[in-house]
Amino acid sequence: MYQTKCCKITAQSIAEGAALIQKGELVAFPTETVYGLGANALDEEAVRKIYVAKGRPSDNPLIVHVADVEHLKELVAVFPKEAALLAQAFMPGPLTLVLPKKPCIPSVVSGGLDTVGVRIPSCEGARAFLKATGLPIAAPSANISGRPSPTKAEHVLHDLNGRIPLILDGGPCTGGVESTVLSLASEVPMLLRPGLVSPADIRRVIGRLEIHPSVLANTPMDKVASPGMKYKHYSPRAKVMIVEGTALQAVRLYDLAQSAGVIPSLLWNSEDIPLFGSRKAEILFDENNPAMAAKRLFTCLRRLDEQGVDIIFAKSLSYEGIGLSVMNRLLRAAAFQVLSVHFLSTANDKDLLDIMGIYGI
Ligand code: TXA
Ligand code: MG
Repeated sequence: MYQTKCCKITAQSIAEGAALIQKGELVAFPTETVYGLGANALDEEAVRKIYVAKGRPSDNPLIVHVADVEHLKELVAVFPKEAALLAQAFMPGPLTLVLPKKPCIPSVVSGGLDTVGVRIPSCEGARAFLKATGLPIAAPSANISGRPSPTKAEHVLHDLNGRIPLILDGGPCTGGVESTVLSLASEVPMLLRPGLVSPADIRRVIGRLEIHPSVLANTPMDKVASPGMKYKHYSPRAKVMIVEGTALQAVRLYDLAQSAGVIPSLLWNSEDIPLFGSRKAEILFDENNPAMAAKRLFTCLRRLDEQGVDIIFAKSLSYEGIGLSVMNRLLRAAAFQVLSVHFLSTANDKDLLDIMGIYGI
């Protein structure tokens, strides 16, 4: 059990964090995507502590973070031309490349695979911390496994208080969803997890890209290429349902849930909020600004949990650009439960209560 310290990120707290890392301890730090839980990637004992602190399954590999491309090349067995082009375009930034690993990467980091995910965060605080450690840092998102990723230091403290010695607080993350994970270890470059670097951005630089089926579907366990995809993910305590229908259809769902005695909330676009009257509603995004949904999603899910909400009706986004990364997370938070326009316009009240898992009315 630790007395967890949460310090504003300064030269002094960075030096303290670097010393802890060098001693084999864990330190949570901000990045432009979400907060990471870092350990020396070359120290197996230290990396094992990550899995224990998070309650993370040990076959789910970790991303290794470094401050620059020179250090990144030291971790991978090959660095193909496509990697060089992508590094030039998007690093530092929210892109992780999966490449064949060098033997120096312990198998506890790679989850037993012969590849490693590598990334250079663009967040100034993250890079200063990485430089100060002088080490490659293995870091998953700094949340309890299965919970929404942390986009503020308070979220890390909420999940990991007592489990780690230090959190470096760099304020809210600007991106809000985790990095794009792209494998260059397969025949054709394969998108394993969408993020703020979109498929169109990648195709512009390297031409070809396939999108792994698990990005938008609940793939059978034995078919997953990115082991992280098979586990329950991003789940708040509340039940989440994705609504493809109109604001008025969402109002009907809300009122039915409320009359059945559960506490609902809407998670919707700002333009429709006035239609909800005094009903509980959080803004997820503006119609013309899907990046807002990426930034707000995890924060909203955590806030609604704190407020004791039982069921969240979340508006579905377009799957284009950043929308793809938001829907990838939202689908998992909702255990792939999507209410289609057709279902919403044909279902009677009993059907709707059934699908919400509310019985006995
Ligand atoms: O933005 C991010 O990537 C954040 C910050 C802290 O950098 N990190 C993060 O790590 O999201 P984590 O562990 O929560 O997610 C890593 C994802 C998992 O889905 C994992 O399965 C996948 O990347 N991954 C890592 N190494 C891989 C590999 N060698 N092959 C396939 N997938 C890999
Ligand atoms: Mg994670």
